[in-house]
Amino acid sequence: MAFREAHHVQLPVPNGWYAVAFSKDLIRGQVEPIHYFGEDMVLFRTRSGEARVLDAFCPHLGAHIGHGGRVVGENVRCPFHGWQYDGESGSCVKIPYCDTIPKAAKVGTWHTQEKNEMIFVWYHAEKKPPLWDFPQLPEFGSSQWSEPINFELFVDTHVQDMHENNNDPVHFQFVHRMVGQEFPGEIEYGADGRHYRMTNHQTMETPVGSFETSLVRDSWGIGMSAVRLEGIPEAGMLLYSSTTPIDLVPNRTISRWVLNASNNMIDYAGDDFLHRLIEGVEQDQKIWANKVHRAKPVLCKGDKYLAEYRRWVKQFYSDPAPLRAVGED
Ligand code: FES
Ligand SMILES: [Fe+2]
Repeated sequence: MAFREAHHVQLPVPNGWYAVAFSKDLIRGQVEPIHYFGEDMVLFRTRSGEARVLDAFCPHLGAHIGHGGRVVGENVRCPFHGWQYDGESGSCVKIPYCDTIPKAAKVGTWHTQEKNEMIFVWYHAEKKPPLWDFPQLPEFGSSQWSEPINFELFVDTHVQDMHENNNDPVHFQFVHRMVGQEFPGEIEYGADGRHYRMTNHQTMETPVGSFETSLVRDSWGIGMSAVRLEGIPEAGMLLYSSTTPIDLVPNRTISRWVLNASNNMIDYAGDDFLHRLIEGVEQDQKIWANKVHRAKPVLCKGDKYLAEYRRWVKQFYSDPAPLRAVGED
């Protein structure tokens, strides 16, 4: 066993909502093979505009529907013998050369929704239906905000290790060379305990005055987060991301980002302002790609946010996964 493997603890896929594509990358009638959570699926957009995800392999002779399949109305048609599957139920609704449809002619379905510029599927290790939702963010589609910039990043690490970074204020000093990240902050939870908000406060000097600003980091499950700068009147910045496990052994994930800022902020800071934020994300990659997962990290007293994060994430795993009650240690 390699040294890195010997020090690594493999986590399963956490339950939750995961992006499988940017909305703009799937036009009506488009069919794509996709592979996430170690599983093969087919993603398509129906004629009415719904994004759908089904298991990949046809119950007939096992063709991968994503390789050459076609959209017919609200269905997808297998490329091998033309059987058609309804995007919502996964049931076969038409066999072009036979009037009787066998009961077992059905492919597995994935709960799908589209929000915040991305298409999401629900993953649950025990195949439970969605247990929570996440909000539509008001910045997207607002005339006061810029056109969002998308980018994606493949990283060889587990989604939890990547997401943990967002709740790790100390690393900003070292990985991102930012000074003075030890600002007072607080953690809050949404009513269902799935939503986690960490806020840090800072006085910011700008050419137009001094402002009490907040860096607000929201998470909805493991892997979905929004980072916002608030406190400058009528100006703001948003970094929204969803990180999706592709395979577990070895760990491979894809992280999709949508960056956005208020028009006045872009006017002031320039076009390349959002691109500089991307460089910040890339600085983390070296750490992620080479680290191991520590199931029981040695933490010091100054690591209170990390300790809190590790308590919060337990609820997203099916086994053992007791739901963490709000306010409970
Ligand atoms: S394998 Fe799909 S229709 Fe025959
Ligand atoms: Fe980072």
